[in-house]
Amino acid sequence: MKTVLILAAVVALAVAGTVPHKHEVGLKSVDAHYIEHQTKVIDLLESIGQYRKDADWFKLGYEYDVEANIDNYTNKKAVEEFLVYYKSGFMPKYKTFSVFYDEMREEAIALFKLFYYAKDFETFYKTAAFARVHCNDGQFLYAYYIAIYQRPDTQTLVLPAPYEMFPQYFVNTKTFLKAYRTKMQHGDFDPAYVATHGIYHENGKYVFYSNYTSPWLTGSVEDKLSYFTEDIGMNSYYYYFQILYPFWWKENSIPHFDEMRGDYFYFFYQQLIAQYYLNRLSNGLGEIPEFSWYKPIETGYYCQLSTYYPFFSRNEYYHINKVENDQYIQYLSNYEQSFLYYLEQGHFKAYNQEIDLRNSKAIDFVSKYWFTTVDLYEKMPKNYERFYEVIGLHLLSATPEPTDKYTIFPSALELHQTSLRDPMFYQFYARILNYFLQWKEYLEPYSYSHLHFEGVKINDVKVDKLVTFFEPYDFDITNDLFHSVEEFKSNDPNIYAVRQPRLNHKPFTVTVDVKSDVATDAVFKIFLGPKYDSNGYPLNIEDNWMNFVELDWFVHKLTVGQNKIDRHSTDFALFKEDSVSVMDLLKYFKQGKVPVDMSERFFYQPQRMMLPKGTKGGFPFQLYVVVYPHTPLPQGWELLKAYFPDMKPMSYPFDRPVYETYFKQPNIYHEDVFIYHEGELTANFYNVQEYYPNYKNQVPKH
Ligand SMILES: *[C@@H]1O[C@H](CO)[C@@H](O)[C@H](O)[C@H]1NC(C)=O
Ligand SMILES: *[C@@H]1O[C@H](CO)[C@@H](O)[C@H](O)[C@H]1NC(C)=O
Repeated sequence: MKTVLILAAVVALAVAGTVPHKHEVGLKSVDAHYIEHQTKVIDLLESIGQYRKDADWFKLGYEYDVEANIDNYTNKKAVEEFLVYYKSGFMPKYKTFSVFYDEMREEAIALFKLFYYAKDFETFYKTAAFARVHCNDGQFLYAYYIAIYQRPDTQTLVLPAPYEMFPQYFVNTKTFLKAYRTKMQHGDFDPAYVATHGIYHENGKYVFYSNYTSPWLTGSVEDKLSYFTEDIGMNSYYYYFQILYPFWWKENSIPHFDEMRGDYFYFFYQQLIAQYYLNRLSNGLGEIPEFSWYKPIETGYYCQLSTYYPFFSRNEYYHINKVENDQYIQYLSNYEQSFLYYLEQGHFKAYNQEIDLRNSKAIDFVSKYWFTTVDLYEKMPKNYERFYEVIGLHLLSATPEPTDKYTIFPSALELHQTSLRDPMFYQFYARILNYFLQWKEYLEPYSYSHLHFEGVKINDVKVDKLVTFFEPYDFDITNDLFHSVEEFKSNDPNIYAVRQPRLNHKPFTVTVDVKSDVATDAVFKIFLGPKYDSNGYPLNIEDNWMNFVELDWFVHKLTVGQNKIDRHSTDFALFKEDSVSVMDLLKYFKQGKVPVDMSERFFYQPQRMMLPKGTKGGFPFQLYVVVYPHTPLPQGWELLKAYFPDMKPMSYPFDRPVYETYFKQPNIYHEDVFIYHEGELTANFYNVQEYYPNYKNQVPKH
């Protein structure tokens, strides 16, 4: 009787709900061999937080002996190094792993090398199963993801979206409590509880409405941007960036990438900070605040996550300049001062190297310096205490020093899955970018003739109405709900999903009308930038070139005469589709298919987030379209096409201080555009009771 009643309650809500609209997934066919590896790689990740005695791979991993198989690794020294760590006691299982702490990181690197130097897929797989059974889950996951993307034989395999691996890093604690409770009570609820907290049961799936952190909850106006800072796609994007280019790893799997790395790192952070800035503007928050190591940190942060312990929060006006931080602050400050000192001198001379800082190629060095990649210290003794970013973010996180090397207080800034959540992340990287800008001030602006494209004129650019909106999205958190062996054996049919409104926009087309006197290959770039500053004054591009977001680049063959080019937002370079759930991946594997974007473009930004959120009446921005002659990438560099159209800096021509007069060119076109927001203006208002009975997205489906 009881069950019947309850089911009735849950179902009543279920029929009212609108299941979020699914986008069509681009798939590609792969061979059986690929699928075999692919399935093995994914199986190891199921319920990563649990000791899976029942799993197929368990016995293999449990019994595997690394030392006995040392001949199966191509680098014996790496194996020996791992064994030294492993025998002296590795990080315990079931503790929070962070790459910001020396011992944990050193061990993770040793584990990564073990994976990386396994001589074939079989050895790699056995080693991974071994680590899955015996090592810390977070440490294993970190080393495993990096190894898969670095090993030539696994590079194109698909890995689950980071938010499905450790959802507790992406979804607030309240939602998890609802999910745990649902599993404990088998959905056997008082309808009032379900209605108040937003829980549905539909088609064997429990759905939990989850809110972003809001100013109503924390009193912090910064939380108006939580739809951006807590977006699961954006945070995954940052995680992938850190996984693909770990600061401690020198060899990159993509040939020649290292020669472009400096520019790519600058571009990555410049774009991220510019996007954040544009969203600040349209939300009325204005400039990104600056901070000083010697003054209290004004911006607080109230983190709603937990992993074993609640994440650390930082009060407003946090007193960072305290005695125990003295030596760190001195270090950070000296590091910054040294840069300015060398910059003024025009060359950097230390660590046995000399760099001409007046040369634009020094971008490589400047990046290494600020992102302290391991090759900066090539000729220095290793001293891992000295990572500017690690120390800076640690101080800003406000966490106390750990009392033992494996117990840390989790904080958003010290985990790559959660870094983007804390507003200090943007203030910190804006500060770093500001040092880049000071360096760039010494570079000559591009001259009139450099920017000019003889015989090519953009006559007109037309853009569809730009519209953003919030749209609900379901993603699976089952991996972080704990199951009994019986449930695993019986394939517990319940799926636990979170439904969260995310920012998206209507697809749009940019139409460029070009008149050309020459038939030639040309590069087109489309940029979006601010029009007015936070005080409403029109911005000049000379002060503003660093705030432009590159929406697209493409190479196009111009013909003599009139050329009309339509470019659709869904084809924009450097953006990707949403990842699909592991559940769906397994279905595609059965058909011998994998999603293209998850295999080839997983490290790009989510397409949904390319436009900043608009306003009801339209928020003004400006759009630049630039066309210039195409010089193909040199031979052997083809793989870099995924990043660069040519050898120019990625944000060219907005990679240097702009001299406005020179930018008045027939091949550079700009115009004002407005971004509108339709439907509910605040994401969380989708998650209120009124939406359940008559739930519908106010924006028509596309
Ligand atoms: C090495 O790997 C091969 C298969 O790749 C396996 O047959 C062998 O048992 C492994 N161990 C040693 C010590 O060679
Ligand atoms: C989300 O936030 C809104 C607005 O503050 C609130 O009314 C609603 O109950 C919240 N929903 C959930 C599921 O927490």
